Amino acid sequence: MVSFLCLARNEYILKTNTMSMEQNNIFHSFIWKTKLDYKEKNKLIKKIEHNYFENPDKTPKKWKCKVHSSYEDRNLSLDTIPLDLIYLIENKVNAFLDAYFRTNEIIGNYFIAEYWYNAYKGFQFQEPHEHGDSLFSGCYYLKFNKDKHCQTTFYNPNFRIEFDKLKNNPYFCYTPECEEDDLIIFPSALMHSTEGIIDKNECEELRITISFNIINDHVYNTNRSKNNLNYH
Ligand SMILES: [Fe+2]
Repeated sequence: MVSFLCLARNEYILKTNTMSMEQNNIFHSFIWKTKLDYKEKNKLIKKIEHNYFENPDKTPKKWKCKVHSSYEDRNLSLDTIPLDLIYLIENKVNAFLDAYFRTNEIIGNYFIAEYWYNAYKGFQFQEPHEHGDSLFSGCYYLKFNKDKHCQTTFYNPNFRIEFDKLKNNPYFCYTPECEEDDLIIFPSALMHSTEGIIDKNECEELRITISFNIINDHVYNTNRSKNNLNYH
């Protein structure tokens, strides 16, 4: 009984203090979303399906997940992702960068340094991760059935905690509603993940995304290996 009273008293004090505190909201995160109308997408899907069935477990060595990905295979990315799709993505990215940089007074030259694709089936997934020293990253949902495929979840960058335990709390975890043909752009440091497939034993359709990184040319030339994809 005594402990209960103390607890209640502490809560009351905390509440009273909170009410008198001033809150300043700083450094908002955002996800920018648009549509891509890629006419040749069925041809590209068939190509990726073919690559997938040749080697379903093609996961980059350092990734702590299970996914078929061209990330580490420069030639596979170049051979698979066609230039007409790259140009479409670049148009959208340039429109975004123009508006964002003008609004936020950011200077420097930025370009898309890397493209790769990811394909998921069964129990494949991607763990919470971020995209290194890029400024922004993007994801095009090439083949995505929102009734069968899991969305991408983003995590509150203010905390380093076990987000898996807080999936239903929108303060810590945010899952935007995306659909096929959506293209999203987000800050590269924003941690994100996907569980891949909803019904892991039933779904026969691959979940396929095309990803890319937008990086400052100085950072790219000084800090990174040049073995990355570069269409410029
Ligand atoms: Fe990612």
